[in-house]
Amino acid sequence: MSIGFIDSGIGGLTTLCDCIKAYPHNDYVYIADTLYAPYGSKSKEFLTDRANALIDKLKRLGAKAVVFACNSCSSATAHTHMNGIPVIRVLPHPEEVLKQTKGKALLLATPVTINSKVVKDVSHERLTKAANDCLAMMIEECAPDFFRLKRYIKELLAPYSDYEAVIAGCTHYIYLIGIIKELFPQFKVCHSNGETVEKLKEFSQEKGQGRVDIHITGKGDKEKYYGIIDSLLSV
Ligand code: DGL
Repeated sequence: MSIGFIDSGIGGLTTLCDCIKAYPHNDYVYIADTLYAPYGSKSKEFLTDRANALIDKLKRLGAKAVVFACNSCSSATAHTHMNGIPVIRVLPHPEEVLKQTKGKALLLATPVTINSKVVKDVSHERLTKAANDCLAMMIEECAPDFFRLKRYIKELLAPYSDYEAVIAGCTHYIYLIGIIKELFPQFKVCHSNGETVEKLKEFSQEKGQGRVDIHITGKGDKEKYYGIIDSLLSV
């Protein structure tokens, strides 16, 4: 079966990689919507319209279900179906992390995710929510050499050094796990890609050709961007 993926850029490739590993026989169509990046500071209405437009495009390309491999886009919409096909949304689950930990947890995400209803509905004395409006784009700019962000991450997370868990509430942040573990080995870094892999199971029964088709909407140096995507997908 052909599965569509949406993100503002390379973040959702972390989700795609895990899905390819679990279901290599699926066909995948991924849209890096770099023309409208970053998603994290856009309005809910804008992201819903954009998601509808990209689902149309993915349907034309053969997708039978779509993964919003982006917490910003997922938290801005609330549907299980859009444009007549199933939608799998990638969302942070701080309540689950709090159940598995005893210490404090930091949810780091984009402004649209932090201000969304799904995140606002969760409050707990051990949970801190922090919105970051520039980290996803910094990750885009550094890719694939994410260690260039080490100093920034050190300063960003230093105030939380006594915390037990950091929740990566943006798929881009998953690239930072290696740096976070090196700087703060005490942190448990959590994200929702495992849950997405599980949800995709019911759409992965029918065998495809194992094709991975990548589309970029932006007008920048596409050849360079495809090169970066290739290197991230081969990890
Ligand atoms: N990867 C995205 C997310 O999970 C989008 C980040 C952005 O474009 O601001 O939120």
